[in-house]
Amino acid sequence: MNTFLKPKWPALAMWLAAGLACQGVAAQGQDDLAAKGAYIARAADCAACHTEPGGKAYAGGYAIASPLGTIYATNITPSKTAGIGGWSEAQFARAVREGVSADGHRLYPAMPYTDYAGISDSDIHALYTYLNQQVAPVDTPPAHVTQLGFPYGIRASMAFWDLLYLKKPSHAEVDPQDSLARGRYLVDVLGHCSSCHTPRNLLMATDSKRYLAGGDVAGWHAPNITSDPNAGIGGWSEDELAGFLKTGHAAGKAQAAGGMAEAVEHSLRYLSDSDLHAMAAYLKSVPAQADPAVSQPDYSYGQPPAKTYDLDNAQSRTSLDAASASTPIGAALLASRTYTDLPKVTEGARLFADACASCHQPSGAGTEDHYYPSLYHNSTTGAATPNNLVMAILHGVDRKGADGPTYMPAFAQDMNDEQVAAVASYVASRFGNPQLKVDAGTVRELRAGGPPPALKAMMPWLLALGGIVVLIVLGLIIHLLRRKPRR
Ligand code: HEC
Ligand code: HEC
Ligand code: HEC
Repeated sequence: MNTFLKPKWPALAMWLAAGLACQGVAAQGQDDLAAKGAYIARAADCAACHTEPGGKAYAGGYAIASPLGTIYATNITPSKTAGIGGWSEAQFARAVREGVSADGHRLYPAMPYTDYAGISDSDIHALYTYLNQQVAPVDTPPAHVTQLGFPYGIRASMAFWDLLYLKKPSHAEVDPQDSLARGRYLVDVLGHCSSCHTPRNLLMATDSKRYLAGGDVAGWHAPNITSDPNAGIGGWSEDELAGFLKTGHAAGKAQAAGGMAEAVEHSLRYLSDSDLHAMAAYLKSVPAQADPAVSQPDYSYGQPPAKTYDLDNAQSRTSLDAASASTPIGAALLASRTYTDLPKVTEGARLFADACASCHQPSGAGTEDHYYPSLYHNSTTGAATPNNLVMAILHGVDRKGADGPTYMPAFAQDMNDEQVAAVASYVASRFGNPQLKVDAGTVRELRAGGPPPALKAMMPWLLALGGIVVLIVLGLIIHLLRRKPRR
């Protein structure tokens, strides 16, 4: 027996065990960091834009229809050739917070870096760790590259825009105990709610003076979500707001379709209840922005009949059965119905009976479980503008919330502009805002993605003006050059 080694064995064993444990702790620390990064990526909804529907996670290619042309999100997988695999953390931070890519080219604000500008250093570190360690590298670049027409195609011009509109907020940690500060961070910075819910100015930057007062996004209207009791969400309880963010509906108030459905499906439904409540509490504290055109809450219009179901009506009875048996299955059954047989009538009441009443009930009061919502007390039918009512009829509702899937068919194929206008006018006048009249021209414009922004409409004039300025400057230069030899 080797007495020389004997006393050393336990020490060596302890040293080895300690080393292994340390490695374990370090690996655990990396895992925790990556898990934190995954949650930040959810809250910031990075995957929604950087993943093409049906495509590989974060491999890019998702097309964002901007009024100035289509902008494609890029590959942000850790691929060394096609993604951000070779990027340092500082380069990554600069792209996410300042809109400048690793090679120095400016990004378009379709990537919401003006909101992400406030992401804390530790959250950037977690995001960087998550993307590099837990996302599978994809070496194929997206099939499409962004190429905007002149003059928007000049990326360098974004430097001027950034100078005007990119703020340099603090990157300090938010105190997790301070619920309002956490709520603000989630709404303003990670959730980039402002990118849709704040109106944009002439140069298409969000108008900070009208923070969260409502904005237009490709035909949809992202409503006023300030604390104003009429124009905003001042009349919602904190629970209603948090529940809406989690599931996409608040009974007797609103449903999420369009971009809001995507935010719920890809991001908000995954957030913790305490984070959702922090967001709701913060929203209720946002200074009210009144709208002179809105004198009562959108969802306070009309009185539904006392009876929710019209049981004397055979059609209503059938859909009640389908709805109450199992709502998602009922939805699938009803969705499998095609509406191509809709007679080409332009009479709102008949169209409603044929295309809508099976779910929303002939009375318009929906089903008792609210799966098929009441069209009374509904921020879409009571709104001052027809956008979301028309867009919901054209594109339907298709969303997964924390409580499961929700589906309403799209009628864009089955109804022409006159029919959509007729049924929308009927729905508004009978269940919602009776002042709202929808005409076929409005439907046509919304079908095409809404009115173009002022910048686009003005561009030919701006270019002409720019051309004149260039001519004057050229003229001056020629004039000066001509004078020189004479001296
Ligand atoms: C609303 C859509 C949207 C969201 C949300 C979004 N991005 Fe982007 N991102 C884009 C688009 C579009 C581009 C390309 C912009 C361009 O080409 O000018 C981009 C570019 C980038 C780039 C630069 C890549 C390169 O090769 O230059 C990085 C890095 C990036 N995003 C990371 C992120 C991260 C991290 C998140 C979440 C915190 C995120 N993005 C969320 C749309 C989005
Ligand atoms: C991509 C654009 C987009 C983003 C991002 C977005 N929203 Fe929305 N939001 C909408 C649209 C569009 C509607 C209207 C949906 C409808 O009526 O079907 C809406 C509706 C809402 C409503 C219901 C308001 C009402 O009066 O009916 C609330 C509350 C809301 N959003 C909160 C938020 C919050 C909080 C965030 C950030 C976490 C957010 N939204 C991010 C587009 C967006
Ligand atoms: C197959 C059943 C079904 C049919 C048919 C149907 N809907 Fe819906 N509708 C729904 C469901 C489900 C929702 C979303 C509920 C939710 O988000 O919780 C909805 C939501 C709505 C909303 C609110 C959308 C928003 O974005 O706020 C309106 C308005 C509406 N429907 C009107 C109509 C009209 C008008 C028709 C007929 C042209 C119609 N619906 C046909 C099931 C249906």
